[in-house]
Amino acid sequence: MSNVHLVDHPLVQHKLTLMRRKEASTNSFRRLLNEISMLMAYEVTRDMAMQDIEIETPLETMHAKVIDGKKVVLVSILRAGTGILDGMLSVIPGARVGHIGLYRDPKTLTAVEYYFKMPGGMEERDAIVVDPMLATGNSAVAAVERLKELNPKSIKFVCLLTCPEGVKTMQDAHPDVPIYTAAIDRELNSHGYILPGLGDAGDRIFGTK
Ligand code: URA
Repeated sequence: MSNVHLVDHPLVQHKLTLMRRKEASTNSFRRLLNEISMLMAYEVTRDMAMQDIEIETPLETMHAKVIDGKKVVLVSILRAGTGILDGMLSVIPGARVGHIGLYRDPKTLTAVEYYFKMPGGMEERDAIVVDPMLATGNSAVAAVERLKELNPKSIKFVCLLTCPEGVKTMQDAHPDVPIYTAAIDRELNSHGYILPGLGDAGDRIFGTK
């Protein structure tokens, strides 16, 4: 699958396995997602632009590299995206944050927008869209479509889990947007859930059910 980055680091895979277990508590599910998100942030920012600045060490002056975190916008697809956002913000603290509220129509499984708020100057920013589950792909496609109206410099998509159907839908609509995921599961069921998956990510993050 082109343009899909499978983050198969042992730490990520170990934590994902713990999260999948049905007996994982809300507390540990949330903590593990937070930790995986930090590790995913490390991968997704690997090619981030750097600049040289002049600094003084205790011994001499030197040119050293820094990133400009403010140029990054983390775009969380509500509500489950919040679970990834926190971990990513702890490693890219200067990032700006946008929110897209989409709910899945339970009959048609299509995405319906109810909220959209982005920082200004989007055309200067690199966008990282986050949502734990790339399932049907409909929400991700709609979110990226909306985002493209604001013309950001680049767009990447980060999820925890996906399936062949979700990857295909996303790549057919947005072949230019790389997908970062910790796993590609077997399939989507008729209710739009990923199998074997981990259940409803939003419910498991927030303890609703
Ligand atoms: N959203 C979820 O939270 N879980 C799935 O399996 C699919 C979509």
